[in-house]
Amino acid sequence: MGSRPIKIAIDGPAASGKSTTARELARRLGYLYIDSGAMYRAVTLKALKEGIPTTDAQKVAQLAETCHIEFRPNDHQTIVLLDGEDVSEQIRSPEVNIHINPVAANPRVREILVKKQQEMGRRGGVVMDGRDIGTVVFPDAELKIYMEATAEERARRRLKELREKGVDIDYDTVYQEILTRDRSDLTRKHGPLRKAPDAIVLDTTHMSIAEQVDKIYQLALQKIRELDP
Ligand code: DC
Repeated sequence: MGSRPIKIAIDGPAASGKSTTARELARRLGYLYIDSGAMYRAVTLKALKEGIPTTDAQKVAQLAETCHIEFRPNDHQTIVLLDGEDVSEQIRSPEVNIHINPVAANPRVREILVKKQQEMGRRGGVVMDGRDIGTVVFPDAELKIYMEATAEERARRRLKELREKGVDIDYDTVYQEILTRDRSDLTRKHGPLRKAPDAIVLDTTHMSIAEQVDKIYQLALQKIRELDP
């Protein structure tokens, strides 16, 4: 595609299928995929490794400032490097899930990570997913998608994913975890989950990943054509 590379922002609640969709979309377009949630996860992991409580706002902000986070596309995955170390698996641990909320709510951490995200997407040709991408990180993104699905469907998807990884967990526990995460994402004072006024809403409750990717891919092609006739 010789046309101008655009920025695509994909926001939505936990387990709405954002990352799988965004990664595949980026692969099809030949764009870079940036998982902004992985950056909040990486800072949380670093605090845990260094024995710093994630509630210590100042020390955690210092970690966010000094750490180096990099994304490297692989076959079906994107490798996350934290100070050169592959932490792709470690950042998904239950330990990180338990301690991440104060990190995501820390205004200084958000400021630092948003800056890093803006730098990574500066030249366009990116698909970035998260909670505040269309509203705070790239309010100028050419295409904004807000993905949603019922909490029940998101819990079913998360349960399937966990069971496939061999995790022994029941539906109710996963469902409660989703509700807790929604609450903290929606009520956070800084960078809460919000639909940008110009975002296109995609309810994925009854859609497969392939259908989601196709739909957004078509919207992206349309946008690229519009901008570069
Ligand atoms: O998308 P995820 O589940 O990997 O996100 C991990 C956490 O980071 C989650 O608590 C929400 C937070 N997050 C955020 O505050 N802002 C973003 N742009 C992305 C994620």
